[in-house]
Amino acid sequence: MGLRGRRFPLKCCWVLAMFVALKQGTLSQEFCEKNTEDDSCKQQFLYSEVEVKVLTVATDDNHGLERFLRSARVYGIEVEVLGKGLKWNGGDMTLPGGGQKINLLKDRLNDILKHENKEQIILFTDSYDVLFLATLDEIVKKFKKFPDTRVLFAAEQFCWPDTKLASQYPKTEVANPYLNSGGFIGFLPEINEIVNYKPVSDRDDDQLYYTKIYLEKSLRESLKITLDHNSAIFQNLNGALSDVQLKANSTKEIWPYIENVATKERPLIVHGNGPSKLTLNHFGNYLAKAWSISEGCALCKEKRAEYKNEDLPTVMMAVFIEQATPFLEEFLEQILTTDYPKEKIHLLLRNNVEYHETEVDDFFQAHAKEYATAKRIKPSDFISEAEARNIAKDRCVSSACDYLFSIDSVSRLEASTLRYLVSSGFDVIAPLLVRPGHAWSNFWGAINSAGFYARSADYMDIVYQIVKGVWNVPFITNCYLAKMSVFRTPAAKAVTYTKDGVDPDMAFCASLRELGVYMYVSNEMEFGHLVNPESYDISRTNPDMYQLFDNRMEWTTRYLHEEYHLSFDEDRKQLMPCPDVYWFPLMSARFCSEWIQIMEAYGQWSDGSNNDKRLESGYEAVPTRDIHMNQVGLERHWLTILKDYVRPLQEMVFTGYYHNPPVSIMNFVVRYRPDEQPSLRPHHDSSTYTINLALNTPNVDFEGGGCRFIRYNCSVRDTKPGWLLMHPGRLTHYHEGLLVTKGTRYIMISFVDP
Ligand SMILES: *[C@@H]1O[C@H](CO)[C@@H](O)[C@H](O)[C@H]1NC(C)=O
Ligand SMILES: *[C@@H]1O[C@H](CO)[C@@H](O)[C@H](O)[C@H]1NC(C)=O
Repeated sequence: MGLRGRRFPLKCCWVLAMFVALKQGTLSQEFCEKNTEDDSCKQQFLYSEVEVKVLTVATDDNHGLERFLRSARVYGIEVEVLGKGLKWNGGDMTLPGGGQKINLLKDRLNDILKHENKEQIILFTDSYDVLFLATLDEIVKKFKKFPDTRVLFAAEQFCWPDTKLASQYPKTEVANPYLNSGGFIGFLPEINEIVNYKPVSDRDDDQLYYTKIYLEKSLRESLKITLDHNSAIFQNLNGALSDVQLKANSTKEIWPYIENVATKERPLIVHGNGPSKLTLNHFGNYLAKAWSISEGCALCKEKRAEYKNEDLPTVMMAVFIEQATPFLEEFLEQILTTDYPKEKIHLLLRNNVEYHETEVDDFFQAHAKEYATAKRIKPSDFISEAEARNIAKDRCVSSACDYLFSIDSVSRLEASTLRYLVSSGFDVIAPLLVRPGHAWSNFWGAINSAGFYARSADYMDIVYQIVKGVWNVPFITNCYLAKMSVFRTPAAKAVTYTKDGVDPDMAFCASLRELGVYMYVSNEMEFGHLVNPESYDISRTNPDMYQLFDNRMEWTTRYLHEEYHLSFDEDRKQLMPCPDVYWFPLMSARFCSEWIQIMEAYGQWSDGSNNDKRLESGYEAVPTRDIHMNQVGLERHWLTILKDYVRPLQEMVFTGYYHNPPVSIMNFVVRYRPDEQPSLRPHHDSSTYTINLALNTPNVDFEGGGCRFIRYNCSVRDTKPGWLLMHPGRLTHYHEGLLVTKGTRYIMISFVDP
């Protein structure tokens, strides 16, 4: 009172001033600081005016940092990386340590205070295991909602590294009671005070340091330190996996996000602390706009690099045959037809299976010279699988090759796979390969604490291509491309396939995980599949023939007649050499010759007499010299051929007759030759219909022969291997086997639906 012109009490004055300032849009923190003690002023107006600095520490330039910086870029956040290229003295990340982070931050804050003397907010986070999930604006907005807070630390479920300190925490009933130092946000003066509170050595634990400050009541209160108990901003994943849900399928939002269902918050920064790193890798496949239902794999598009032919990098193609493998011939053929310039490929062909050695060696002798270089490792070299794989990697690391492309003999690849992988831009990447019809693949979506397979939530989605993209996973095998520059760092010397009691690929992937090298599997396209070697029995003659059930894709490609499917063409006129005798291509020439070889190797042809103890009755009225399929272990196979390939032909030509599966008790190969049994007398068959598959060629393998249908006086003599005659068994189709005058004629017979 008494002052000239003072018409309002002080308080009214600043309210008015605030109103005016607001109107003019000039209200600032300075204003609030000067004019009121009321926090709400600051809370409401100050942050948009205040500069925010985002700092992190990363001495290594690794995949984790790359992912972190990408997430920052995606949300327009500028990050200053401290300690780049410095030697890390902060200890192993899995053990207490990290004091160096505080010291680097301290130096930088000093610097800032010296040169930029203005109010600032500092956001500090770890980097290798952190992702931004929102813009800085959103983060700061949420920060300002914390009442009476100048510094906000992340919080977690575990009191680490010193569990004894748990009792000193203020009593709260919250999900995340304890401080985590992987992320904090606050005002420069307070944070500066915190990092300067006490000297800390690089090897000391940073979380312990900050925890002790927080636990000092006086400091906590004077510096207004709060913990983000509900993960409003910072979500630590360790211990919180049942609370944190990945929402990748939202219909309302394009981009996947995480939600903490316990606290109903949607965290803005996620930290894969401690053992939750692999979960973060899984989340990271979706978060930070890496992937969405509508956009697909955005990350893939960012990374892709197309090469002109002459610019393609040099690749060591390391081929491993570690176990007897079905259809190896086709596998070797696939090596050859890879769509990549051979002069850019160094071939390393390792075979450790004596059974395959001749075939592999022939292949090598014929084709080695086509490649830039070529090397063999043979069974006689007595090199273990792990050693062989190390040799391939080390040769590649220490030579001029840019990539190692490792292929196991169970992989079956599209020719374009290598080119795709090279262009993908990912350093370590496998093409998704799956056993057809099974969930068995060449990657693991997760691993358990013992380091073995565990199923991830999206494993099936990836295997069945319900989601498509490139996926960060903890284990890949059988076929992958690895960029060698990743392996040329000093730390990468530790990468090895050798570890006691562990498969070479498990050892390899474990050492990549330890090194922080991310492994990816791509299911962006179809790259091929895996063959299943489990039932492959090399004690058999032509063991591939027995692979109908486990490797049907290979089996049909090799053994089904290439024109088989043409029989089903609408406008196809079916061949009918005699009335109601149909003629179809069924099996390949290769099938026929291998089938005969199996019979001859078995060799126990029946004696052609009426007594046949293979039959239930023990009596055969019209005997032949033959071998039954159950004698050579092919009964089930042949019945499957009848059901899946012969029956549809029957249904097409003898319409209205359905019998599924076809029943056939007698399935056998007959041998006719002049010195044994050259012909068969006229007879009916005990069948609804009979099939008669020619296995070799008249006038080449034998002379004479054929089948004559007596009622029609009609003979089929010019049979073709792999072609099937199908005719009714009784009444109308009384028939005889014509005389073979020279050589040996083989036919495969079934009496279907007797
Ligand atoms: C998205 O939806 C599909 C199909 O319903 C489901 O299989 C998948 O697990 C969901 N993914 C996520 C991450 O929720
Ligand atoms: C059956 O056909 C052959 C030649 O196709 C012929 O020589 C023969 O006379 C015929 N037999 C009868 C009984 O018609």
